Amino acid sequence: MILLDHVTKKYPGDVTAVDDLSLEIKEGETFVLVGTSGCGKTTTMKLINRLVDLTSGTIKLDGRDITSMDSYSLRRSLGYVIQNVGLFPHFTVERNVGVVPELIGWDKTKIHTRASELLTMVGLSPEEFAVRYPGELSGGQQQRVGVARALAADPDVILMDEPFGALDPITRETLQSELSPLWNELDKTVVFITHDIFEAVKIGDRIGVMDNGKILQTGRPADVIKQPENETVSSFFAQHRFQLELLTTRIEPLVEAFDESRIKRDKNTPWLHPHDGLIDAMDALKISDDQKVPVYDSKKRYLGIISHETVTREILNLIEQ
Ligand SMILES: Nc1ncnc2c1ncn2[C@@H]1O[C@H](COP(=O)(O)OP(=O)(O)OP(=O)(O)O)[C@@H](O)[C@H]1O
Ligand SMILES: [Mg+2]
Repeated sequence: MILLDHVTKKYPGDVTAVDDLSLEIKEGETFVLVGTSGCGKTTTMKLINRLVDLTSGTIKLDGRDITSMDSYSLRRSLGYVIQNVGLFPHFTVERNVGVVPELIGWDKTKIHTRASELLTMVGLSPEEFAVRYPGELSGGQQQRVGVARALAADPDVILMDEPFGALDPITRETLQSELSPLWNELDKTVVFITHDIFEAVKIGDRIGVMDNGKILQTGRPADVIKQPENETVSSFFAQHRFQLELLTTRIEPLVEAFDESRIKRDKNTPWLHPHDGLIDAMDALKISDDQKVPVYDSKKRYLGIISHETVTREILNLIEQ
């Protein structure tokens, strides 16, 4: 879907911000670029939406070279959430959400309807918020408007540059858990930038660790954490390795067969999804009075149980590794 082939960006003054970077981002996935400040994340994103020009290399969107696309098609295909929100302060919330539709010539009624629909989707009541100005919103609400704006013209790809970077940890977690299922359900391809490794492993289907203009390793979060390919990647995760392993070790292979009729269930009984991690299992076991938690897949089919004993054993394994 998005292909970067030997991409280099040199800024005047001999700064190589992106250095011979090759990367493939698949359709429908959430790909997270993670790396320390100044490693070239924003530049990589701006190369994709042509806010900066390539020094060398090629970028393709659905097989089309982006340099051959007109700006109309590019804006139509790519939504962008800018680092530090970047809402227009003198535009109302509705006008901010409608910026791209307006640029590409939608009529007023269609923009109004779309803005109301999107504000509702990101959890802001249009009656209350559409006529406000960005300065009259909290930081978290501004971020929600930023996400609504990126979705406005229904692009296939959304580029998000530290969308939740400036928020307190609680608001950040709320937005992560509310908004990432939203773009997954809408089948968007998302390129998400962060320097927060916990955010990266939580949101990313795959992550790419970036340093000094290069991508050092890409893969599923659990694989990159467990099998770092070099010293830099390893040291990037070193300080929080145990927590990250607890977060990314899925319970799927730990599910045991158990007769469903013997499970005590009421509406408060916790349950798990096979993609949940060990931390979710610990949380569920803590509120279960049964030492075991049932596991159901997305279609609500019963798969078996996760037991207290298995989770404890797995955690001990991680500690001893
Ligand atoms: N317009 C510019 N002119 C010259 N150098 C630039 C320009 N924009 C960025 N740089 C330099 O390019 C490098 C990469 O910057 P970039 O903004 O891509 O980093 P980043 O990974 O997004 O960092 P952060 O996490 O702080 O946002 C930095 O050394 C930066 O100083
Ligand atoms: Mg940046």
